[in-house]
Amino acid sequence: MKINDKYSHLVEEARKTKLNAYAPYSRYQVGAALLTRNGEIYTGVNVENSSFGLTVCAERIAIFNALSQGNQDLEAIAISAQGEEIPYPCGACRQVMNEFNPDLMVILDSGDHINIYSLQELFPMAFKLKR
Ligand code: THU
Repeated sequence: MKINDKYSHLVEEARKTKLNAYAPYSRYQVGAALLTRNGEIYTGVNVENSSFGLTVCAERIAIFNALSQGNQDLEAIAISAQGEEIPYPCGACRQVMNEFNPDLMVILDSGDHINIYSLQELFPMAFKLKR
């Protein structure tokens, strides 16, 4: 099985959930679907605010959704946004992903193209503290 096939369902979930994005200011809708090792999927969308700095990215909402439901064992995240560019996750989201799994699989979907990375590739030499 190709890795794309393995995560095609996750990409579908990210595409579906993207429709719930609250992005009236940027009009850039992002959907994230997070797979945990026990096979559960947690979704998130970007949520903007008229006070722009309060905006939260789709990826972090998906991760916080999993955590708040007691699941910290992250395997892969699919991120979907419509546009010419591949929706690479912002630095803040990469840092949050790294907290829970530095080997997280990150599947990026622009509608036309799907790229797959490990978080290690996207976020080498991350800041960490001993717990
Ligand atoms: N956005 C995300 O949801 N994820 C990212 O990794 C980058 C940016 C959202 C935030 C904002 O609502 C819109 O995209 C434009 O920055």
